[in-house]
Amino acid sequence: MAENGSWNHTTATDKPVPYSTGDSKITETTIAEMRQLAARYPVGRSALLPMLHLVQSVEGRVTPEGIEACAGVLGLTGAEVSAVATFYTMYKRRPVGDYHVGVCTNTLCAIMGGDLIFERLKQHLDVGNDETTEDGKITLEHLECNAACDYAPVMMVNWEFFDDMTPESATQLVDDLRDGTEVKSPRGATICTWKEAERVLAGFPDGRADEGPTGGKATLAGLRLARERNWTAPGRDSSAADARKED
Ligand code: FES
Repeated sequence: MAENGSWNHTTATDKPVPYSTGDSKITETTIAEMRQLAARYPVGRSALLPMLHLVQSVEGRVTPEGIEACAGVLGLTGAEVSAVATFYTMYKRRPVGDYHVGVCTNTLCAIMGGDLIFERLKQHLDVGNDETTEDGKITLEHLECNAACDYAPVMMVNWEFFDDMTPESATQLVDDLRDGTEVKSPRGATICTWKEAERVLAGFPDGRADEGPTGGKATLAGLRLARERNWTAPGRDSSAADARKED
């Protein structure tokens, strides 16, 4: 424990995590919203994941106060909530900037240019992985497969897709975000702040779910071909019959 009584944990990047800063923004309204989320499920603890997103929307990260609030509402221990919050990479222990920028560096994206994009952004923003720019605008993180390999190399801003990226389009994207220029995902909504996006993930829609196209040309190529060639999926009965024949 540090001399000031707060815990400092060291993570892979060797930067200490400010465990508690004593300026939590969790209010009675947040607690009421947590109860609202818990009431949506037959078993309240099923709401823990959205509740942690709600904590991030208020605090900008998962704080000890947020963990205790979730535990209090769900009748869990802080250790149980902490175990969940530290398991998933979508829950952040350090403050996230106004925009979370992820670069896919998994195999396909990496060989299509993802590694190059990530290196270029690290230099351009003067940050390392999982770090935030000095102006607090951008947090950069390398991501594993975003399930969007048909548009490799892809990036995400606050979990919205940006397709077929290049080092040049990537630096332009982060410059636009920092300048406050309106940015739209080619397959999603206009980009809001990370905290706003976290509130949507918590289960409080902002009414923009249908903004932008949802399926892109490359993703729908198989469907287009199937329609052109009159292909249909076998019905449930015929696959069961085929399976019986093989037996
Ligand atoms: S490898 Fe990048 S989206 Fe799949």
